[in-house]
Amino acid sequence: MITRRELAALVPALGFAQVKEEKKLAPYYPTPETIVERMLQLGSLKAGEKMFDLGSGDGRLVIMAAEKFKADATGVELDDDLYKQSSERIKRLGLEGKARIVHGDVLAQDYSPADLLTVYLLPSATEKLTPILEKQLKKGTRIVSHDFPFKNWQPEKIEDIPDDGEGRSHTLYLYRR
Ligand SMILES: C[S@@+](CC[C@H](N)C(=O)[O-])C[C@H]1O[C@@H](n2cnc3c(N)ncnc32)[C@H](O)[C@@H]1O
Repeated sequence: MITRRELAALVPALGFAQVKEEKKLAPYYPTPETIVERMLQLGSLKAGEKMFDLGSGDGRLVIMAAEKFKADATGVELDDDLYKQSSERIKRLGLEGKARIVHGDVLAQDYSPADLLTVYLLPSATEKLTPILEKQLKKGTRIVSHDFPFKNWQPEKIEDIPDDGEGRSHTLYLYRR
């Protein structure tokens, strides 16, 4: 049986877990590597530019941005395990100088230095992000969103990528502030 002391120790932890659950804007559903590359190409990511992946999962966009496109890449991830796993992978690959993961909420970050943002979050999330990004982003920042558009913004380009056998097609939206 659980003791009163154990219960007292558990209550704040449960509360914390619940707050995390409430902040969650999408489940973990990774972008296939071929689409990761298409997203970074569509966003015209260049060496030395600052990119952010909002809800970075296992860090695949951040890692490819730093490794292949030589960008300065930051991921933001709420989930403890994905944060640890992606940070460890960055360290193992020796990319710490060019890539990092912030353990936090995408709605509570400063994106003002960004040249490119990549996003794969649900429509409710893009809605919450819209006023934050409108306030923070400098003129010319590109945003590439996977599958879910920012409904108040006019895309500069839409790329439809048919199913190549994995059982899902993809749509990429490019915006420029
Ligand atoms: C659909 S996955 C995309 C992962 C990665 N960007 C990719 O394309 O492969 C969404 C990710 O966002 C994370 N996430 C959800 N809500 C978040 C929030 N409020 N702050 C930070 N990360 C969040 C999830 O844990 C998950 O890893």
